[in-house]
Amino acid sequence: MNANSLVDRFGRSIEYLRLSVTDRCDLRCAYCIPKGFKNFEEPEHWLTFTELERLLGLFAGLGLKRVRLTGGEPLLRGKLPELCARITTLPGIEDLSLSSNATQLARMAGDLKRAGVRRLNISLDSLRPERVAKINGSPVLEQVLAGLEAARQVGFAPIKVNMVVMQENVDEIDAMVAFCMERGFVLRLIELMPMGETARRMGYVDLQPVIHGLRQRFSLVDTLMTGGGPARYLGTPDGRFTVGFITPISQHFCASCNRVRLTADGVLHLCLGQEEHMDFRRMMRAGATDADLVEACHRAIDLKPERHEFREQPQKLVRFMNMTGG
Ligand code: GTP
Ligand code: 5AD
Ligand code: SF4
Repeated sequence: MNANSLVDRFGRSIEYLRLSVTDRCDLRCAYCIPKGFKNFEEPEHWLTFTELERLLGLFAGLGLKRVRLTGGEPLLRGKLPELCARITTLPGIEDLSLSSNATQLARMAGDLKRAGVRRLNISLDSLRPERVAKINGSPVLEQVLAGLEAARQVGFAPIKVNMVVMQENVDEIDAMVAFCMERGFVLRLIELMPMGETARRMGYVDLQPVIHGLRQRFSLVDTLMTGGGPARYLGTPDGRFTVGFITPISQHFCASCNRVRLTADGVLHLCLGQEEHMDFRRMMRAGATDADLVEACHRAIDLKPERHEFREQPQKLVRFMNMTGG
């Protein structure tokens, strides 16, 4: 074990933290939060900005380079730009990014850019208002499109559009390609993961034939693009359009996993699809020293499982997606 880096039992270097800043959301995407879900975390359990700064500072000393803010919906966390500014000034953190549903983005894009957020990933499953209302649980298409436009105006690049592909929207892939191509967005097609009863019932669409079809139709070629995450990217030969594929079910990417997740209430989860975790809030609020926390972080990384088992055990509910933010 190297004391200054985080390498797990399978030789994977951990340098990317997905930080959920709230488990709340203004939407109810069918594949994420079940309707009527009430079991939200108590706000007094949320790590404060000072606690987050301390913990991320220690992780950065151990080789953490990238932080992605997730939720729930991260823009619902009060004073988020202030947190962003505090994270980007931590020595060692090279990249701060955000995954959002964009309903609040039109008013916040400028502040986020100024606070040092570099990259945005935005959920958009359909371009049809009534479908958005159904899949995402609220009629917000216009708001989301306004958010995307604001992000473009203030100069975020890249902006990635996340489309979870389901039977309900598989017929819109070409429309989404055209939409993203026109606006310079990177499109990402995602296989649905069985994070709960509804998501399991919806079933995933295998993206392998879709990848093959798009490759042929648009003469797509391999690209060098990477966000540090699990997507594999193809692009048009003129470099004007890039599309990424996230295939946790048909072709999982656990062997190259470089990430861990911290929930809003300060629990470090070692895998999206497994139970192993370590409660840093409890330790910090019980008076742990920095050395205690560093030691706990090494112990946590030793717990990181080899892979998820969404395919072998789809019925196993680990957590709902809004808790760990994807
Ligand atoms: P960048 O590569 O930095 O752009 O980020 P990302 O694609 O990892 O982040 P985003 O929040 O946009 O996530 C896109 C999809 O990838 C979501 O469905 C996530 O749940 C999924 N995802 C991200 N990381 C993992 C992972 O480690 N394992 C699995 N199974 N899915 C992941
Ligand atoms: N399977 C795959 N992706 C999901 N997301 C949320 N729930 C699921 C799921 N069950 C995606 C959202 C968002 C990203 C952070 O995670 O679409 O873009
Ligand atoms: Fe909210 Fe994101 Fe979950 Fe949709 S996927 S309900 S936008 S947290």
